[in-house]
Amino acid sequence: MSAVWGEKLKVTIFGESHGACVGVVVDGIPAGSDINMETIALHMARRAPGQKNTTPRKEADVPQILSGVLDGKATGAPICGIIENTNTRSADYERFLLRPGHADYTAFVKYNGFSDGRGGGHFSGRMTAGLVFAGSIVRTLLEEQGIVMGAHLLQVGKVKDVPFGPFPHENQLRSLWDASLPVLSSVEEQMRAEMEEAGAQGDSIGGAIECACVGLPVGLGEPFFDSVESTLSHLLFSIGGVKGVAFGDGAEAPGMQGSQYNDPWLLKDGNITSDTNHSGGVNGGITNGLPLLFTVNMRPTPSIAKAQHTVQAADMKEMTLELKGRHDPCIALRAVPVIESAAALALYDLYLRRGNR
Ligand SMILES: Cc1cc2nc3c(=O)[nH]c(=O)nc-3n(C[C@H](O)[C@H](O)[C@H](O)COP(=O)(O)O)c2cc1C
Repeated sequence: MSAVWGEKLKVTIFGESHGACVGVVVDGIPAGSDINMETIALHMARRAPGQKNTTPRKEADVPQILSGVLDGKATGAPICGIIENTNTRSADYERFLLRPGHADYTAFVKYNGFSDGRGGGHFSGRMTAGLVFAGSIVRTLLEEQGIVMGAHLLQVGKVKDVPFGPFPHENQLRSLWDASLPVLSSVEEQMRAEMEEAGAQGDSIGGAIECACVGLPVGLGEPFFDSVESTLSHLLFSIGGVKGVAFGDGAEAPGMQGSQYNDPWLLKDGNITSDTNHSGGVNGGITNGLPLLFTVNMRPTPSIAKAQHTVQAADMKEMTLELKGRHDPCIALRAVPVIESAAALALYDLYLRRGNR
């Protein structure tokens, strides 16, 4: 397993969906940093289950800080946060039931049948609660430097929202944090209907999230191997269900010409900038001072109620599986703050490394 990520900022993730808790240890937060519990509560609530069009699993998702914080400030010691699992229900047979689309089969083989398969165990979407807790800590520190991020649902099934465009405004990004379904145009009802229809059919649908980050200085990113794109992608692809990441117009790039994709430089008040942002704020793996823009494609939720063929590994018998109960018809909705948090962690690690030349 590889449960530790980061260079200057180290993030260790632990826990299981139906174990005692999920949690995270964040090492590298400078002593004296403000640990803003309101910011943490805001973003944790955006990810928590039980909202409209999400799994009815009831979890308060209130993090407990076990170490590293005193009187609202980081002490410099590792910060450990846990989120208790209070609403677990699993039967023994579930441990070896290989749900299609989940990590059940691959983990069963890789860990010789010892992995905790209950509710997805260490592979559950619930693990991302720890990521949001850690991301929310560094978001406060990034904001102190004028760096703000936000994301919206760019697509749910067939319904598409409008993209941010080249220069999203900080206030627009902040306003998305309060939305129960974050979109830029009036597609909320259509997206909800799309999710409800998939759920009613016992099925699920995919989605896309567009994330933007403004206020970044020129110069974050450590090429060759720790470019901005590779550092962010490492964390983004660690999130279960993420199947594609594109920066700027990256997805459209194969059909574009250089003259369309390049962002011509110009001078504004003596500063070098551009009127376009096809590169999504990165050149050569280094931030160029324009907004960072990227899109994440998420698969349809693997847990579906429709009958599926599979194997019960406990007795090695084929069977028809009809999953009952709790699942999000579209995981992209709850993944929005998770994507922002992953971006925040990646950017903060690069921020701490920015002195490297
Ligand atoms: C925030 C979030 C919530 C998720 N919730 C669910 C869920 O309710 N049901 C489910 O089957 N998968 C859910 N997932 C996705 C699974 O964790 C993921 O698809 C699975 O671990 C397999 O990984 P893979 O799709 O990357 O192969 C969620 C993912 C995230 C990021």
